[in-house]
Amino acid sequence: MPDLLTNRPTAVYARWTMCSSPTGVVEDPSTLFPHDRAELHPSLLAPVGELQMVHSFEHTPVLRDEVVSLFASAPAGVIVDATVGGGGHSAALLDAYAHFSVVGLDRDTVALAAARERLARFGDRVTLVHAPFSSLGDVVPGPVSGVLFDLGVSSPQLDSSERGFSYRLGGTIDMRMDQTSGATAGQLVNELPEGALASLFRENGEGRLSGRIARAVVAARPLTSTTQLSEVVAAAVPAAVRRKGHPARRVFQALRIEVNDELGQLAAGLPLALARLVPGGVCAVISYHSGEDRLAKQVLREAATGGCTCPPDLPCVCGAVIRYRLLFQGARKASAAEVAENHRAESARLRAIVRLDVP
Ligand SMILES: C[S@@+](CC[C@H](N)C(=O)[O-])C[C@H]1O[C@@H](n2cnc3c(N)ncnc32)[C@H](O)[C@@H]1O
Repeated sequence: MPDLLTNRPTAVYARWTMCSSPTGVVEDPSTLFPHDRAELHPSLLAPVGELQMVHSFEHTPVLRDEVVSLFASAPAGVIVDATVGGGGHSAALLDAYAHFSVVGLDRDTVALAAARERLARFGDRVTLVHAPFSSLGDVVPGPVSGVLFDLGVSSPQLDSSERGFSYRLGGTIDMRMDQTSGATAGQLVNELPEGALASLFRENGEGRLSGRIARAVVAARPLTSTTQLSEVVAAAVPAAVRRKGHPARRVFQALRIEVNDELGQLAAGLPLALARLVPGGVCAVISYHSGEDRLAKQVLREAATGGCTCPPDLPCVCGAVIRYRLLFQGARKASAAEVAENHRAESARLRAIVRLDVP
């Protein structure tokens, strides 16, 4: 379909006919979700032959049962899994509810290949898309019954040394979720001016040691491996700080947030998701660092108040229309039992909202 390939934006759209072909095939978008209201953007259709196969992709979905129960009341239709990863949450939702199909997005082609294998048994109830969720509006222009964001990185991304996400493993300083585009963390640490590096570390959580760490990084250039970066950071901070945990952890996280524009993605993607929900449709967000959770809280709160600017103890006179309701106050955390099984659940914060039947 050459005409479709010529005008291809950042997304690569594939409809997997599970089991029929090892690489999947693309079908006419008119055959997708014939009973659903979601429409797929035809210009995004393209083969995804470059997806790599993965043979082990171990990622335990966090807060899985809580997520499944949140979508219990959502009407039949399409659920967008905006961060499909290995497909754990999607599989749980498809198993629990026969009336849902899933459009799964991910920036990572390795994750998509894993999701394809894991979700193969659901056949045409699953569509996978190589796209950042900031392009959700183009990828799924029609209304949907739900959207799930399980943010951050997956265990396989963190545990693959060559991806460069881990300060514990030696690898190249990459950290891109989408390895097909964008600047690597190595480019940032080797090319940014010291002041810009210090701001990057400060804004993404490193606090008062940012300047010191940035200075040490600049002095050690060129940095070629994660081990080297990790050692430079460790040597730059006082011993008392080192005793509280590896100082490179937050620096690596700060670089990862920047490389993948994690906050910009959420700021763009979450409002798009809310705008797509049908009445009764649910949006759930699981975040793993405070910057993400703060942003999710702010966007969901604003939606749930309709942007009302009136004092909370007085009747609304500003004309705000409330179209969403928070499903619960605050953020839910994983139970102690789940954290004991899966330490990555410890930092997870779940927030959720439902679209009301208000025009
Ligand atoms: C925590 S994992 C999701 C795991 C998934 N829920 C599961 O059960 O297997 C997060 C995934 O989101 C992807 N991701 C992160 N930010 C993204 C973005 N802005 N757009 C699309 N995918 C993104 C990552 O590549 C990763 O595969």
